[in-house]
Amino acid sequence: MNNSDLATLLKEVRKSAAKAAAFQLNELNRFNASDIVYKGKNDLVSYVDKQTEEMLVADLSKLLPEASIMAEEGGIKDNKTLQWVIDPLDGTTNYLHRLPVFSISIALREHGKEIAGLVHEANKNECFYAWENGGAYCNDEKIKVSQATTLDRSLIATGFPYSLLDKTDAYFEIMKELLLQSHGLRRFGSAAVDLCYTACGRFEGYFEFNLKDWDVAAGTLIVKEAGGKVTDFNGGDNYRSGHEVLATGHIHEELLKVIQKHW
Ligand code: IPD
Ligand code: CA
Ligand code: CA
Repeated sequence: MNNSDLATLLKEVRKSAAKAAAFQLNELNRFNASDIVYKGKNDLVSYVDKQTEEMLVADLSKLLPEASIMAEEGGIKDNKTLQWVIDPLDGTTNYLHRLPVFSISIALREHGKEIAGLVHEANKNECFYAWENGGAYCNDEKIKVSQATTLDRSLIATGFPYSLLDKTDAYFEIMKELLLQSHGLRRFGSAAVDLCYTACGRFEGYFEFNLKDWDVAAGTLIVKEAGGKVTDFNGGDNYRSGHEVLATGHIHEELLKVIQKHW
Protein backbone atom coordinates (compact mmCIF):
# COMPACT_ATOMS: atom_id res chain seq x y z
CA MET A 1 0.00 0.00 0.00
CA ASN A 2 1.30 3.45 -0.72
CA ASN A 3 1.73 6.32 1.70
CA SER A 4 -1.39 8.31 0.92
CA ASP A 5 -3.55 5.14 0.98
CA LEU A 6 -2.26 4.45 4.49
CA ALA A 7 -2.92 8.00 5.67
CA THR A 8 -6.49 7.80 4.34
CA LEU A 9 -7.02 4.36 5.85
CA LEU A 10 -5.84 5.57 9.25
CA LYS A 11 -8.44 8.33 9.25
CA GLU A 12 -11.13 5.64 9.06
CA VAL A 13 -9.39 3.45 11.67
CA ARG A 14 -9.33 6.47 14.01
CA LYS A 15 -13.13 6.75 13.73
CA SER A 16 -13.61 3.06 14.56
CA ALA A 17 -11.22 3.23 17.51
CA ALA A 18 -12.94 6.34 18.87
CA LYS A 19 -16.33 4.62 18.66
CA ALA A 20 -14.97 1.52 20.42
CA ALA A 21 -13.28 3.64 23.10
CA ALA A 22 -16.59 5.43 23.79
CA PHE A 23 -18.20 2.02 24.30
CA GLN A 24 -15.45 1.04 26.78
CA LEU A 25 -15.83 4.25 28.77
CA ASN A 26 -19.57 3.82 28.86
CA GLU A 27 -19.34 0.24 30.15
CA LEU A 28 -16.78 1.14 32.80
CA ASN A 29 -19.42 2.14 35.30
CA ARG A 30 -21.77 -0.71 34.47
CA PHE A 31 -20.09 -4.04 34.72
CA ASN A 32 -19.23 -5.81 37.97
CA ALA A 33 -16.95 -8.56 39.28
CA SER A 34 -19.18 -11.33 37.95
CA ASP A 35 -18.40 -10.13 34.40
CA ILE A 36 -14.73 -11.04 34.83
CA VAL A 37 -13.53 -14.36 33.41
CA TYR A 38 -10.09 -15.87 34.10
CA LYS A 39 -8.35 -17.04 30.90
CA GLY A 40 -5.40 -18.13 33.05
CA LYS A 41 -3.63 -17.05 36.23
CA ASN A 42 -3.71 -13.23 36.28
CA ASP A 43 -5.07 -13.28 32.75
CA LEU A 44 -8.44 -11.56 32.92
CA VAL A 45 -11.03 -10.85 30.29
CA SER A 46 -14.58 -9.47 30.18
CA TYR A 47 -17.44 -9.02 27.74
CA VAL A 48 -16.05 -5.53 27.13
CA ASP A 49 -12.86 -6.98 25.56
CA LYS A 50 -14.94 -9.33 23.42
CA GLN A 51 -17.55 -6.84 22.27
CA THR A 52 -14.91 -4.22 21.50
CA GLU A 53 -13.10 -6.77 19.38
CA GLU A 54 -16.31 -7.65 17.52
CA MET A 55 -16.93 -3.96 16.77
CA LEU A 56 -13.39 -3.43 15.50
CA VAL A 57 -13.27 -6.61 13.43
CA ALA A 58 -16.57 -5.67 11.75
CA ASP A 59 -15.31 -2.18 10.83
CA LEU A 60 -11.78 -3.20 9.81
CA SER A 61 -12.99 -6.10 7.67
CA LYS A 62 -15.18 -3.68 5.76
CA LEU A 63 -12.32 -1.21 5.33
CA LEU A 64 -9.92 -3.81 3.94
CA PRO A 65 -11.72 -7.04 3.02
CA GLU A 66 -8.49 -8.54 1.61
CA ALA A 67 -6.72 -8.47 5.01
CA SER A 68 -6.73 -11.31 7.52
CA ILE A 69 -7.09 -10.74 11.26
CA MET A 70 -5.02 -11.61 14.30
CA ALA A 71 -6.96 -10.50 17.37
CA GLU A 72 -6.40 -11.34 21.02
CA GLU A 73 -9.84 -12.67 21.86
CA GLY A 74 -10.58 -14.32 18.52
CA GLY A 75 -7.26 -15.80 17.56
CA ILE A 76 -5.82 -15.86 14.07
CA LYS A 77 -7.98 -16.03 10.97
CA ASP A 78 -5.80 -16.92 7.97
CA ASN A 79 -2.47 -15.31 7.37
CA LYS A 80 -2.62 -13.17 4.29
CA THR A 81 -0.20 -10.61 2.85
CA LEU A 82 -2.11 -7.91 4.72
CA GLN A 83 -3.09 -8.57 8.32
CA TRP A 84 -4.76 -6.55 11.06
CA VAL A 85 -3.25 -7.18 14.51
CA ILE A 86 -5.69 -6.14 17.22
CA ASP A 87 -5.71 -5.84 20.99
CA PRO A 88 -9.25 -4.61 21.72
CA LEU A 89 -8.43 -3.66 25.29
CA ASP A 90 -4.81 -3.38 26.37
CA GLY A 91 -4.78 -2.91 30.12
CA THR A 92 -7.69 -5.19 30.98
CA THR A 93 -6.56 -5.55 34.60
CA ASN A 94 -6.56 -1.76 34.98
CA TYR A 95 -9.97 -1.59 33.33
CA LEU A 96 -11.46 -4.20 35.61
CA HIS A 97 -10.13 -2.34 38.63
CA ARG A 98 -11.29 0.98 37.14
CA LEU A 99 -7.80 2.40 36.85
CA PRO A 100 -7.80 4.96 34.04
CA VAL A 101 -5.00 3.60 31.84
CA PHE A 102 -6.12 1.29 29.03
CA SER A 103 -6.10 1.41 25.27
CA ILE A 104 -7.12 -0.05 21.95
CA SER A 105 -4.24 -1.18 19.77
CA ILE A 106 -4.56 -1.80 16.02
CA ALA A 107 -1.76 -2.47 13.56
CA LEU A 108 -1.72 -3.32 9.90
CA ARG A 109 1.05 -5.64 8.76
CA GLU A 110 2.16 -6.29 5.20
CA HIS A 111 4.28 -9.44 4.73
CA GLY A 112 4.64 -9.59 8.52
CA LYS A 113 5.93 -6.02 8.93
CA GLU A 114 3.92 -3.16 10.42
CA ILE A 115 2.96 -0.50 7.90
CA ALA A 116 0.39 1.34 10.03
CA GLY A 117 -0.39 1.45 13.74
CA LEU A 118 -2.85 3.17 16.04
CA VAL A 119 -3.26 3.23 19.82
CA HIS A 120 -6.29 5.00 21.27
CA GLU A 121 -6.12 5.85 24.98
CA ALA A 122 -9.70 6.57 26.00
CA ASN A 123 -9.18 8.30 29.33
CA LYS A 124 -6.99 11.07 27.98
CA ASN A 125 -8.71 10.95 24.62
CA GLU A 126 -5.34 10.57 22.96
CA CYS A 127 -5.03 8.78 19.66
CA PHE A 128 -1.47 7.88 18.70
CA TYR A 129 -0.83 6.69 15.15
CA ALA A 130 1.86 6.27 12.56
CA TRP A 131 2.39 4.82 9.14
CA GLU A 132 5.55 3.63 7.47
CA ASN A 133 7.68 6.63 6.46
CA GLY A 134 4.79 8.95 7.40
CA GLY A 135 5.87 10.01 10.91
CA ALA A 136 4.04 9.57 14.22
CA TYR A 137 1.20 11.63 15.65
CA CYS A 138 -0.87 12.15 18.78
CA ASN A 139 -4.30 13.43 17.78
CA ASP A 140 -3.25 15.90 15.08
CA GLU A 141 0.19 16.80 16.40
CA LYS A 142 3.42 15.26 15.19
CA ILE A 143 5.34 13.57 18.02
CA LYS A 144 8.95 12.66 18.57
CA VAL A 145 10.95 10.75 21.17
CA SER A 146 12.70 12.39 24.10
CA GLN A 147 16.03 13.99 23.30
CA ALA A 148 17.60 12.86 26.62
CA THR A 149 20.74 10.88 25.93
CA THR A 150 21.63 9.40 29.32
CA LEU A 151 19.94 7.04 31.74
CA ASP A 152 20.40 9.45 34.65
CA ARG A 153 18.08 11.90 32.83
CA SER A 154 15.49 9.22 32.00
CA LEU A 155 12.17 7.89 33.23
CA ILE A 156 11.72 4.22 32.32
CA ALA A 157 8.51 2.22 31.87
CA THR A 158 8.16 -1.52 32.23
CA GLY A 159 5.66 -4.29 32.90
CA PHE A 160 6.00 -6.61 35.89
CA PRO A 161 6.20 -10.26 34.87
CA TYR A 162 3.46 -12.58 36.05
CA SER A 163 4.68 -15.66 34.29
CA LEU A 164 8.03 -16.98 32.97
CA LEU A 165 9.05 -17.06 36.59
CA ASP A 166 12.58 -18.34 35.87
CA LYS A 167 13.35 -14.82 34.65
CA THR A 168 11.95 -13.07 37.69
CA ASP A 169 15.28 -12.73 39.54
CA ALA A 170 17.07 -11.34 36.49
CA TYR A 171 14.20 -8.92 35.97
CA PHE A 172 14.36 -7.69 39.58
CA GLU A 173 18.12 -7.14 39.25
CA ILE A 174 17.49 -5.00 36.16
CA MET A 175 14.83 -3.00 38.01
CA LYS A 176 17.14 -2.48 41.00
CA GLU A 177 19.89 -1.10 38.82
CA LEU A 178 17.51 1.13 36.87
CA LEU A 179 15.93 2.50 40.04
CA LEU A 180 19.37 3.59 41.21
CA GLN A 181 20.50 4.99 37.87
CA SER A 182 17.45 6.72 36.40
CA HIS A 183 14.68 9.17 37.34
CA GLY A 184 12.61 6.11 38.25
CA LEU A 185 10.48 3.28 36.96
CA ARG A 186 6.77 3.24 36.09
CA ARG A 187 4.39 0.34 35.55
CA PHE A 188 1.26 1.72 33.89
CA GLY A 189 -0.33 -1.59 32.88
CA SER A 190 -0.81 -1.13 29.15
CA ALA A 191 2.14 -2.03 26.95
CA ALA A 192 0.64 -0.10 24.04
CA VAL A 193 0.40 3.05 26.18
CA ASP A 194 3.98 2.55 27.47
CA LEU A 195 5.21 2.41 23.89
CA CYS A 196 3.26 5.52 22.85
CA TYR A 197 4.47 7.45 25.88
CA THR A 198 8.00 6.51 24.82
CA ALA A 199 7.20 7.69 21.31
CA CYS A 200 6.09 11.12 22.52
CA GLY A 201 8.93 11.56 25.00
CA ARG A 202 7.07 11.10 28.31
CA PHE A 203 9.25 8.04 28.90
CA GLU A 204 12.81 7.79 27.62
CA GLY A 205 12.61 4.01 27.43
CA TYR A 206 10.42 0.97 27.93
CA PHE A 207 11.17 -2.71 28.24
CA GLU A 208 9.06 -5.79 28.90
CA PHE A 209 9.08 -9.49 28.09
CA ASN A 210 6.54 -12.25 27.57
CA LEU A 211 4.10 -10.09 25.60
CA LYS A 212 2.21 -10.97 22.43
CA ASP A 213 2.12 -9.55 18.89
CA TRP A 214 -1.04 -7.51 19.56
CA ASP A 215 0.52 -5.80 22.61
CA VAL A 216 3.40 -4.34 20.63
CA ALA A 217 2.59 -4.28 16.89
CA ALA A 218 1.11 -0.77 16.73
CA GLY A 219 3.20 0.82 19.49
CA THR A 220 6.58 -0.30 18.14
CA LEU A 221 5.87 1.25 14.73
CA ILE A 222 4.77 4.46 16.46
CA VAL A 223 8.07 4.58 18.42
CA LYS A 224 10.14 4.01 15.29
CA GLU A 225 8.25 6.61 13.29
CA ALA A 226 8.76 9.07 16.16
CA GLY A 227 12.51 8.64 15.76
CA GLY A 228 13.05 5.93 18.38
CA LYS A 229 14.63 2.51 18.30
CA VAL A 230 13.06 -0.89 19.01
CA THR A 231 14.92 -4.18 19.48
CA ASP A 232 14.81 -7.42 21.43
CA PHE A 233 17.09 -7.88 24.45
CA ASN A 234 19.98 -8.88 22.19
CA GLY A 235 19.76 -5.65 20.25
CA GLY A 236 18.25 -7.60 17.32
CA ASP A 237 15.08 -7.40 15.29
CA ASN A 238 13.17 -10.19 16.97
CA TYR A 239 10.67 -8.12 18.96
CA ARG A 240 7.47 -8.61 16.93
CA SER A 241 6.21 -11.59 18.92
CA GLY A 242 6.46 -9.39 22.03
CA HIS A 243 8.65 -11.99 23.69
CA GLU A 244 11.28 -9.30 24.43
CA VAL A 245 10.79 -5.62 23.66
CA LEU A 246 13.11 -2.70 24.30
CA ALA A 247 12.01 0.69 22.94
CA THR A 248 13.86 3.94 23.52
CA GLY A 249 14.44 7.47 22.38
CA HIS A 250 18.20 7.99 22.60
CA ILE A 251 19.34 5.75 25.47
CA HIS A 252 19.19 2.41 23.70
CA GLU A 253 22.78 1.26 24.18
CA GLU A 254 22.91 2.25 27.86
CA LEU A 255 19.61 0.54 28.68
CA LEU A 256 20.50 -2.53 26.63
CA LYS A 257 23.76 -2.86 28.55
CA VAL A 258 21.92 -2.95 31.90
CA ILE A 259 19.43 -5.55 30.60
CA GLN A 260 22.12 -7.75 29.08
CA LYS A 261 24.20 -7.71 32.25
CA HIS A 262 21.47 -9.61 34.11
CA TRP A 263 19.46 -11.41 31.40
C1 IPD B 1 -1.34 -6.63 29.16
C2 IPD B 1 -0.81 -5.21 29.26
C3 IPD B 1 0.22 -5.11 30.36
C4 IPD B 1 1.32 -6.11 30.20
C5 IPD B 1 0.70 -7.49 30.13
C6 IPD B 1 -0.23 -7.59 28.94
P1 IPD B 1 -3.86 -7.09 28.35
O1 IPD B 1 -2.28 -6.76 28.10
O2 IPD B 1 -0.22 -4.81 28.05
O3 IPD B 1 0.81 -3.83 30.41
O4 IPD B 1 2.21 -6.02 31.28
O5 IPD B 1 1.65 -8.46 30.12
O6 IPD B 1 -0.72 -8.89 28.79
O7 IPD B 1 -3.94 -8.48 28.87
O8 IPD B 1 -4.37 -6.10 29.30
O9 IPD B 1 -4.40 -6.96 26.98
CA1 CA C 1 -2.53 -6.59 25.71
CA1 CA D 1 -6.17 -7.27 25.73
